Amino acid sequence: MNVEPVILALLVFHILGLSLIIGSFALQLRRKEGFELGTIVIGAITQLVTGLALVGMLQVGGEDVNNAKIAVKTTFAIVVLVAVLMARSRQAKALSAGTSEKTAVLPFLHLAGMGAIINVLVAVLWH
Ligand code: HEM
Repeated sequence: MNVEPVILALLVFHILGLSLIIGSFALQLRRKEGFELGTIVIGAITQLVTGLALVGMLQVGGEDVNNAKIAVKTTFAIVVLVAVLMARSRQAKALSAGTSEKTAVLPFLHLAGMGAIINVLVAVLWH
């Protein structure tokens, strides 16, 4: 079975997923309220799903996969997802308590953005 087209399609969605995370992070860095976190949640889930599917398809195609690199990327992808979910729940609490949305959300937004940027570095520099 020729898995090459599937791998290329997954890679396209993998790149689109990372753009959702880093694009949304960059756009909202200076925001003080009204954070929109759903886009990052979708991006983080996309990265986990397409990343794991890529590993599977590469193995089906008989290619070598660097297990240590995959373990590191999975860890950071989980950090991104957990951080954005934390940001969302802290945002909800701040809104209902009438406290600062910025203080509640920004540290976790940074963590999510940095986790994704670290994964780009790992993906590109680790061979
Ligand atoms: C925030 C999360 C992630 C980001 C930002 C990210 C980023 C990237 C980037 C930029 C590439 C292209 C690299 C290149 O072609 O040189 C890539 C490829 C790839 N990623 Fe990810 N990734 C993430 C999560 C994951 C996860 C969780 C997995 C696996 C469980 C994974 C597995 C792969 C594989 C197999 C490739 C293609 C082969 C390779 O270059 O290693 N990625 N990723």
